[in-house]
Amino acid sequence: MQHYSLILILVFCFKAFDTDARKYWCKLVKYEKPTSGCCAEVVYNTTTSACCGTKIYDRSRDHIDYECCADIHVYKRYEQTCCGSVVRNNIDIDLEADICCDNKFHPKTEGVCCDNTFHKHGDKNRHSCCGKLLNDNNNKKCCNGKLHDISLNPAKTCCGIETYNNSTHWCDERDPDIILLLGQETCYGEKYLTNETKICCHGKLRKLINKTTVNDDACCGTTTYNSKENTMTCDNNQLVPIGNMPAETFLKMCGDRSINENIQGCCDGTPFDLLNQICCGGTILHKSKKCCDGRELDTAKYVCCKGDTIEQQVKLQPNSDECCLLKNGSFQTYNRKYSECSLTLGVAPKGYRCGPLLYNKSTDLCCQGILFKNGTLQKRKCCGVKSYDTQCQECQHDGIIDLETW
Ligand SMILES: *[C@@H]1O[C@H](CO)[C@@H](O)[C@H](O)[C@H]1NC(C)=O
Ligand SMILES: *[C@@H]1O[C@H](CO)[C@@H](O)[C@H](O)[C@H]1NC(C)=O
Ligand SMILES: *[C@@H]1O[C@H](CO)[C@@H](O)[C@H](O)[C@H]1NC(C)=O
Ligand SMILES: *[C@@H]1O[C@H](CO)[C@@H](O)[C@H](O)[C@H]1NC(C)=O
Ligand SMILES: *[C@@H]1O[C@H](CO)[C@@H](O)[C@H](O)[C@H]1NC(C)=O
Ligand SMILES: *[C@@H]1O[C@H](CO)[C@@H](O)[C@H](O)[C@H]1NC(C)=O
Ligand SMILES: *[C@@H]1O[C@H](CO)[C@@H](O)[C@H](O)[C@H]1NC(C)=O
Ligand SMILES: *[C@@H]1O[C@H](CO)[C@@H](O)[C@H](O)[C@H]1NC(C)=O
Repeated sequence: MQHYSLILILVFCFKAFDTDARKYWCKLVKYEKPTSGCCAEVVYNTTTSACCGTKIYDRSRDHIDYECCADIHVYKRYEQTCCGSVVRNNIDIDLEADICCDNKFHPKTEGVCCDNTFHKHGDKNRHSCCGKLLNDNNNKKCCNGKLHDISLNPAKTCCGIETYNNSTHWCDERDPDIILLLGQETCYGEKYLTNETKICCHGKLRKLINKTTVNDDACCGTTTYNSKENTMTCDNNQLVPIGNMPAETFLKMCGDRSINENIQGCCDGTPFDLLNQICCGGTILHKSKKCCDGRELDTAKYVCCKGDTIEQQVKLQPNSDECCLLKNGSFQTYNRKYSECSLTLGVAPKGYRCGPLLYNKSTDLCCQGILFKNGTLQKRKCCGVKSYDTQCQECQHDGIIDLETW
């Protein structure tokens, strides 16, 4: 008994003086996050297992087959769907026609699901969602999750979350999007009109020297000079008379410093090392980082999705590593190893797509994208894009031939 309490005191002291932030206690066992977890006072390996409420379960093949639904049920990802706290078999629900909302499945034809609340369509018009908001009767303009009354002005265009009139304004689609007058630009945040005699020199608005030679005016540091006059040149942000130029031709200005373009790049006015760094939306990052949409990508939480003209960071679902552009213009993440993406079908399990259709390998045959329903059942095989009956035909290099029957 005495011996036992001594151990307890030792453990307690150890715990009190343990300053390593990644070390945690699970009952009396020390473990390390994130490689291990604690589930109902039992330590488990987070790579191979997961915790569902109080139950440790095997995540199975490549550790992605099973998932936990609402801390209650363990379910099979590709065969079942978790909706709120209910698990349903995919064959019992129509994922194309139904939507999981507010812990229940609802037919998509009956309404929309905004921020997990189901709204039945009105008698006259269908509703839509604008981010988390309900666009009642679909009569407002939705700009990135903000609704705008457009009854007075139906043609307004979105710029970020705001709207503007494109015959008087334009949208500078930088981060954040800025609405500017036509003919207006910004110089490091300061707005100015381009038809005026001004030039933006490294963050400072400067008067042009000669209005009639606008295109020849250049910046040297934060001052302007006429680049066509051939009397002065800009070296290391200093104006120097021509003739005194250093010989290196690969020197270029970046902000107020000169850079060697062979080894350096210029990132929004700051030089960076081409070998070890990248420029991401004006910020210099280490080469190992990823850049998406002009922002550093937190690869643990997001994937970078590219549409035709859009590029955006999309929240990563567990074990996803790729992004799929869907028909309706939204993105869905998926695991490249087990799923594939097509515009017509969206994300589908790998190996179950034949051209633009889904098929069942155990019954159907797919020959280079051409589907033969029941082909496998009928013991047919592929011969190029055609299928043939293995019992009475053969595939040779010049096509399918009928076997002679004896
Ligand atoms: C977890 O399991 C993986 C795969 O079996 C193994 O490589 C890893 O060492 C284990 N981690 C711990 C902390 O036991
Ligand atoms: C946009 O602005 C122009 C000029 O002020 C105006 O004539 C036009 O009606 C506006 N368009 C809309 C859709 O409001
Ligand atoms: C301006 O907006 C109108 C209505 O949305 C659109 O038809 C037109 O193409 C736009 N013009 C430009 C220059 O973007
Ligand atoms: C520049 O354009 C704006 C708007 O078009 C106009 O009001 C202003 O007078 C112009 N300025 C010059 C110097 O031409
Ligand atoms: C501006 O440039 C024009 C054309 O080169 C020249 O004729 C004029 O004298 C210059 N004006 C001034 C104030 O330098
Ligand atoms: C687009 O379709 C997907 C899958 O069908 C759905 O999950 C998503 O909510 C839809 N997005 C929009 C904006 O309707
Ligand atoms: C494929 O078809 C077989 C036989 O009809 C059936 O047992 C199986 O569940 C189907 N698989 C899929 C993924 O639909
Ligand atoms: C495929 O076979 C099933 C049963 O074997 C049959 O019900 C179905 O009609 C067949 N489909 C086609 C397209 O031949």
